[in-house]
Amino acid sequence: MSFEQKGFTVWFTGLSGSGKTALAVRLAEEFRNRGLTRVERLDGDIVRKSLTRDLGFSKEDRDKNIERVTFVAKLLTRNGVAVIASFISPYRAVRARSRQEIGEFIEVFCQCPLEVLVERDVKGLYKKALAGEIENFTGVSDPYEDPLAAEIVVDTDKETVEESLARILDWLETNGYIPPADTPEQVYSAEEEAEVEERLRSLGYL
Ligand code: ADX
Repeated sequence: MSFEQKGFTVWFTGLSGSGKTALAVRLAEEFRNRGLTRVERLDGDIVRKSLTRDLGFSKEDRDKNIERVTFVAKLLTRNGVAVIASFISPYRAVRARSRQEIGEFIEVFCQCPLEVLVERDVKGLYKKALAGEIENFTGVSDPYEDPLAAEIVVDTDKETVEESLARILDWLETNGYIPPADTPEQVYSAEEEAEVEERLRSLGYL
């Protein structure tokens, strides 16, 4: 059975350190494993070094960041690419605009309590933000508006990356965005094959 790849964007939103990038990286791998040939990842930490390197973290700049990325995701999506975007994208109205622009838009909310993120503090940014060394830090001194109707919510403090990934893949598969994982084909040995052939012949099928 052949699978016709269509364009769509999986949009990860959530606080810094909530697991967006880790999930995005694994999802891209899994897309390729399943035979999707056109896969692109857009990630805040990377995009902010190129396309949006002129921008900071004021509301205006964050909105511009998401607006530009949305433009790119829209072009890719309409050309049949499986796009995986991972941005804090803290504002509901801006995410709604991205959804409207992109069309095939699957929102994944990486939910994780702030206390856990502060505790983990992988990049050491929460410590600095709490000490007042970084201004407008999302969740500390800048807002984050939880999605109200994300297609998928993953609780990254309770689930492992692989568990969350499995739920995302399941949703995408159920909704026809990706093909099912390959079930390994039954491989017979030469002897077994000869035996089957012999039996079929004796039954008059060959
Ligand atoms: S967004 O708000 O415009 O969507 P984006 O996802 O691109 O943000 O970038 C977030 C990343 O920038 C964080 O993971 C963190 O590494 C870094 N960062 C630096 N300053 C801030 C800040 N004030 N608030 C949030 N993230 C920041």
